[in-house]
Amino acid sequence: MPQPPPPSRRRLANPQSAHATPAQSGHGDTDQPCLLERAQLHAVPSTLLIPLAARAHGGRYFAWLACQDAVATQLLDELGADVNAYLDDLPTVLNVLWRTRAIKQVGQAFFAEHPQALGVNLGCGLTHHFQWLDTGANQWLDADLPEVMALREQLLPLRCPRARHVQVDLTQTGWWKRLALPRKGPDAQPVLLICEGVLMYLQPEQVHAVLAEFAQNATPGSRMVLDVLTRQAVGRAAIHASVGPTGAEFCWGVGRMAELEQMHPRLKLLREQSVSECYGWTGIALDILWRPWLGAPLYGMATLGVEAASP
Ligand SMILES: C[S@@+](CC[C@H](N)C(=O)[O-])C[C@H]1O[C@@H](n2cnc3c(N)ncnc32)[C@H](O)[C@@H]1O
Repeated sequence: MPQPPPPSRRRLANPQSAHATPAQSGHGDTDQPCLLERAQLHAVPSTLLIPLAARAHGGRYFAWLACQDAVATQLLDELGADVNAYLDDLPTVLNVLWRTRAIKQVGQAFFAEHPQALGVNLGCGLTHHFQWLDTGANQWLDADLPEVMALREQLLPLRCPRARHVQVDLTQTGWWKRLALPRKGPDAQPVLLICEGVLMYLQPEQVHAVLAEFAQNATPGSRMVLDVLTRQAVGRAAIHASVGPTGAEFCWGVGRMAELEQMHPRLKLLREQSVSECYGWTGIALDILWRPWLGAPLYGMATLGVEAASP
């Protein structure tokens, strides 16, 4: 199996912005490195700042999509991160707010049906979706690579006995068992998996393995909500205004949304959405126009379900 290139160890620089100030960059008058710099995140983990910035401040630009994240602004302050350059990239801010709303909707519908079930955020970064999806009886698990979970422990320590933090590397098969997720069976509860802004950084065969592991293990009724890029974006992260400067690369994209359910016989594509819906008729028309070339939305969301095995 071809392996992704080794991630470069980069000292994460605050993204440059025309309106950055020393105070905003977290240094103040001292030369002390801020928490973000001390964390020394690799290129892909460092991309967690992009959606965090959008959830914290994106409502200024897109009030109708404001997610009212109660912690994101404080996390940015504690990190000492200057994220103004990310906020200059308005299409990405919109993508993040749109997907946050879509995830909230899927989560609320899922937990209305299964109020005691488990929600799992794979590649959670510094999200706090449990603030919106806590039913008072459900369980929650946030999982990411060790360097991100170390940061998360400092910034978002667990406060609820129904929540867990676990380190995971999704490129290593067997994560379902390592995370102690409920295996399919007559008494098993369905599980909700969230995987946003993550899979595009994995190799196609690794994405295939992640979806297959979900399909093989989850009990019918389980859901996985994920975001996708068109295959045309693969290898082109350098021209992305926010991702380019991080050094991360897009490795996986879809040619058609239907590919997702074709990865395993138990998977069903329950819903597909394109961010073009945020741009009104112009966006929808452009989406239709580009579809023969792109094959899939430029940026989209999918909700996958697990079906009972066919006889
Ligand atoms: C763009 S950030 C998204 C973070 C978060 N989901 C959000 O929307 O704010 C990408 C995240 O994917 C995580 N990630 C990348 N590769 C991973 C892997 N192999 N296993 C687990 N997490 C991974 C990164 O550490 C990072 O937190």
